[in-house]
Amino acid sequence: MSEIVRVLKTFVAYLKRPDLYPELGRKIIKNTVNRGNAFKGKEKTNSWAASKAISQQEAVTKLFGADISPFRTQFLEILKQSEQKEKDCPIKMGGPGALELIYYSCEFANAKNVVETGVAYGWSSLAALLSLQKREGKLYSSDMPYLAQDGDQYVGYVVPENLKQYWKLFRFADKESLPKIFGDSETFDVVHYDSDKSYNGRVWAYNELYRHLRKGGVFISDDIGDNSAYQDFCEANSIDTVVVEYEGKYIGVFVK
Ligand SMILES: C[S@@+](CC[C@H](N)C(=O)[O-])C[C@H]1O[C@@H](n2cnc3c(N)ncnc32)[C@H](O)[C@@H]1O
Repeated sequence: MSEIVRVLKTFVAYLKRPDLYPELGRKIIKNTVNRGNAFKGKEKTNSWAASKAISQQEAVTKLFGADISPFRTQFLEILKQSEQKEKDCPIKMGGPGALELIYYSCEFANAKNVVETGVAYGWSSLAALLSLQKREGKLYSSDMPYLAQDGDQYVGYVVPENLKQYWKLFRFADKESLPKIFGDSETFDVVHYDSDKSYNGRVWAYNELYRHLRKGGVFISDDIGDNSAYQDFCEANSIDTVVVEYEGKYIGVFVK
């Protein structure tokens, strides 16, 4: 699909969804007057992250005192089935991230309530749900519909049916989803951010998520090297964060 066709298709799809008009307005501003916002402070943060980065295993040991290797053997069959579902999915989205980091965060926090932004195929959702099911907990997720690709029905595609009873998926932009989620539940044991990658989008959501994270809960943000929003947020709140290097990107994680 050419870029212009994709943009037009997305625009028309937005017009059919009045519930997404606020996000359409924000997107227009983001892609015109605020274009530089996506990469604000990127260079500074990349050298900061590189100087602190450790592996996923090191981070899980350091923060949670756990070994990550049981995850892949314990959930081998489920992960295989989800990989097959991803292959069969007619639309293409982002693949799995550091699943063990999410799973062991939930285990460490004895999580009953988790909130995440950004679902795509649902890999991060799956990791959280595998832990939450043990405590009959709840995962609250926020994701925009995949308008350009008619992919609405495929968000969360790799999550098995039997785990969906522990899951509430909010199909709006974060600015609309998060207030609805916080209306359902005030405090969370784990928060995972992996959606709007702009500087301003992150700063807004980080502050909201942090406010609703309980003391001793775990905060995770993906792709923190895109701009300096995560570093600036940690510095402003005197947070000593761990930085994980995973498949060429940086993930931030700390215990509140
Ligand atoms: C990298 S993917 C998420 C991957 C997922 N966490 C995983 O581990 O499998 C990013 C997702 O964020 C969603 N997204 C982007 N901007 C958003 C916004 N403003 N509000 C809600 N979701 C958004 C996209 O639709 C996309 O599905």
